[in-house]
Amino acid sequence: MSDNLAVVLKRSVQAQPVAKDFEVVSKPLPVPGAGELLVRSVYLSLDPYIGSRLRNKHMGESAPGAGESVPGFSVAEVLESRHDGIAKGDYVVGECGWAQFGIMAGASVRKVDPSLPLSAHLGVLGMPGLTAWAGVTQLAQVGPGDVFMVDAAAGAVGGTAGQIARNLGARAVGIAGGATKCALVKDVYGFDAAIDYHQPDWIDRMVAATDGGPSVHFENVGLSVLLPALKHLRLNGRIVLCGLAEHYQSDAPPPQMPVGTIVGKRARILGLVVYDYYARWAEWVDLARPWIEQGKLAFGEDIVDGAAQAPAHFEKLMRGKNLGKALVRMGPDR
Ligand SMILES: NC(=O)c1ccc[n+]([C@@H]2O[C@H](COP(=O)([O-])OP(=O)(O)OC[C@H]3O[C@@H](n4cnc5c(N)ncnc54)[C@H](OP(=O)(O)O)[C@@H]3O)[C@@H](O)[C@H]2O)c1
Repeated sequence: MSDNLAVVLKRSVQAQPVAKDFEVVSKPLPVPGAGELLVRSVYLSLDPYIGSRLRNKHMGESAPGAGESVPGFSVAEVLESRHDGIAKGDYVVGECGWAQFGIMAGASVRKVDPSLPLSAHLGVLGMPGLTAWAGVTQLAQVGPGDVFMVDAAAGAVGGTAGQIARNLGARAVGIAGGATKCALVKDVYGFDAAIDYHQPDWIDRMVAATDGGPSVHFENVGLSVLLPALKHLRLNGRIVLCGLAEHYQSDAPPPQMPVGTIVGKRARILGLVVYDYYARWAEWVDLARPWIEQGKLAFGEDIVDGAAQAPAHFEKLMRGKNLGKALVRMGPDR
């Protein structure tokens, strides 16, 4: 067990990250100190925020330098514990970088139920699922009668958000890029409608599918969807500002919204930061678990095998080409 494949940054990242920015190396097996865990990563989560973090643009979290480990969360098996309350054989979600074996701080991990699919703890039950839950139920307070619209709807956040809204009695309309993503949104996630925003008439289709416009719009992409969504938002509608994926790699001035339209619509603009909801993770898992068991909450996953595939898979995510939650299988489940 001395071989530990890990991915480090080869050079500092100035623009949209590409596979060549990374390097796969073999590292010695780390030794846990007091309060720490030695873990074996089972799945590594690849998330859009890592691209911003590598460019020093994510909520004050510093970027790693050349030769340093790439940040990322994994669901992992505990091999050795020096932290009270966590034992060898437990499964946890925590940060140990892009590596087969790593060290996690015992106080910062989340213990998870290994009887559920392990990968789900990074997607639908993980940070993206919690984000969707927070935006739909806590900020927009979606319920029966709402027409809920979300973009990046094939992704982990968007796909989960639309299904939550639908399970709570709303009509769910998803916006996604391309026919394959739209098929996932409609046929697997069960949205009422899916609109391909690469088609020239997509705004007309969006207006028709929302019967004049959404009462709630959940934004993951940026101005190309947000502005038409705001223009057609119903009076007193709500907009959850969750992500701006199309702007993350840009050095242009921050995207602006037309404040006059917000006033005219009597709209409520709701900014979402998932960190505010970490203390309430169990509420989401308790709600989601029966939905998953009853087939009312599906999740799409885009999985590759092995640490060596992580750089190319991350580049795919950065280009918005992933189909569902982007994951790397780092080793066997058990
Ligand atoms: N506020 C928070 O606390 C919080 C927490 C978690 C995630 N987020 C945000 O939520 C959004 C969705 O997250 P996710 O993990 O579920 O990701 P994701 O949807 O799997 O990936 C992002 C999607 O954004 C779309 N996109 C449009 N233009 C893009 C571009 N230029 N580059 C890359 N992607 C582009 C693509 O979908 P289409 O092809 O369908 O457009 C892409 O698949 C992201 O913006 C993320 O940063 C926010």
